[in-house]
Amino acid sequence: MALKITVIGTGYLGATHAAAMAEMGFEVLGLDVVPEKIELLASGRVPMYEPGLEELLARHVAGIEGSTGRLRFTTSWEEVGAFGDVHFVCVNTPQKHGEYGCDMSYVDAAFASLAGVARPGSLAVGKSTVPVGSAERLAGVLPEGVELAWNPEFLREGFAVQDTLRPDRIVVGVPGDDGGRAEKLLREVYAVPVAEGSPFVVTDFPTAELVKTAANSFLATKISFINAMAEICEAAGGDVAKLAEAIGHDERIGNKFLRAGVGFGGGCLPKDIRAFMARAGELGVDQALTFLREIDSINMRRRGQMVEMARQALGGDSFLGRRVAVLGATFKPDSDDVRDSPALNVAGQIHLQGGQVTVYDPKGMENARKVFPTLGYADSALEAVRGADVVLHLTEWREFRELDPAELAAVASSPVVLDGRNALDGERWRAAGWTYRAMGRPRA
Ligand code: UDX
Repeated sequence: MALKITVIGTGYLGATHAAAMAEMGFEVLGLDVVPEKIELLASGRVPMYEPGLEELLARHVAGIEGSTGRLRFTTSWEEVGAFGDVHFVCVNTPQKHGEYGCDMSYVDAAFASLAGVARPGSLAVGKSTVPVGSAERLAGVLPEGVELAWNPEFLREGFAVQDTLRPDRIVVGVPGDDGGRAEKLLREVYAVPVAEGSPFVVTDFPTAELVKTAANSFLATKISFINAMAEICEAAGGDVAKLAEAIGHDERIGNKFLRAGVGFGGGCLPKDIRAFMARAGELGVDQALTFLREIDSINMRRRGQMVEMARQALGGDSFLGRRVAVLGATFKPDSDDVRDSPALNVAGQIHLQGGQVTVYDPKGMENARKVFPTLGYADSALEAVRGADVVLHLTEWREFRELDPAELAAVASSPVVLDGRNALDGERWRAAGWTYRAMGRPRA
């Protein structure tokens, strides 16, 4: 009989994982402790913007006309325990307040509840990003007969559906003493993507946990590396975009994740590298990761450098009374997530220094308003730019690349645009009368 799957925690990761498991043909039960979230999901809607997710969900949520009915939601742990052969734990592990470490309280609470209800013979699978060593500890919380596997998730916001249905790789950490049972069950769960070519890597608990933090640290390092090169280019008159293109032709380096600009943000990279450093300290090997401190500070410095670039564009004086249009609020395009967003941070710094900031973002306005209610907001890029002394492009939405620079030049007070993502077509903007400058590139 086909395995029955539960997904515990229906945030970004959990909602996507639950929908993907239903798409693969399994009966799925999603649990969350927040009843409003469950009500929303049960009606086929998602509490965030993620391309394709709502459609995928609606295709499977029970009770929706024409759906397969394979996906249901609940707030009842008893129901989860009775239902599931495989339980995926997908809860959040945010940064601890005021310190680097990772807040494990949601994971610990989820495992404690699951331990009270899981049937003997069932498998618990951790997907959350956790400090290395957590799986070993959590295995001890589960009752006799309930195994644990660790199966980190690598999905990117904006590509969550495709990353979940066709992952680059599936990594599973399994206990050495269960006779291969955990691996066998997970091979059954992931039979479809594996058949379609996703590599299946089996390893021990610590390695599985580390694959996730190592991968995110490597990605953060790539971005900060190119941003460090951007700083050098700015001082020496070089062009970081050309530099990235040229080094990227070397296959050992590769051309991805070398886009210089205002740097990385979001709910993962910044907090994951910090939690990794904190864990290395606990393990007595903090020196192994001191380079991540530098990666973090290069990244945070970019935000201040963007503020400085804006000040210079306005003549080098204070921002008082100057009108600044900010295009973008989310930490990346195709997402409504503003967590640790460089765009919003830059907008906030200029606002706090007395600038009159007007922000526009295609999907992030609601969340931005919640985080930073005192900023000015406009309903369109055109309205944000109206009367602006300088325009900052800080999140590379397609909508911004497709703007008509001539139309914007007609409403701006002074046609100066600073590209903090190296994503606009500078020639096109210049041809329409704009002074176009980009981070890490020479002035034309
Ligand atoms: C990341 C990892 O990519 C993913 O595998 C992991 O599961 C979760 O964390 P995500 O946070 O969704 O995913 O975003 P990602 O696409 O990695 O971008 C992170 C940040 O880096 C964004 O702010 C983005 O704008 C920035 N970035 C990315 C750059 O500044 N330059 C680049 O070249 C690439």
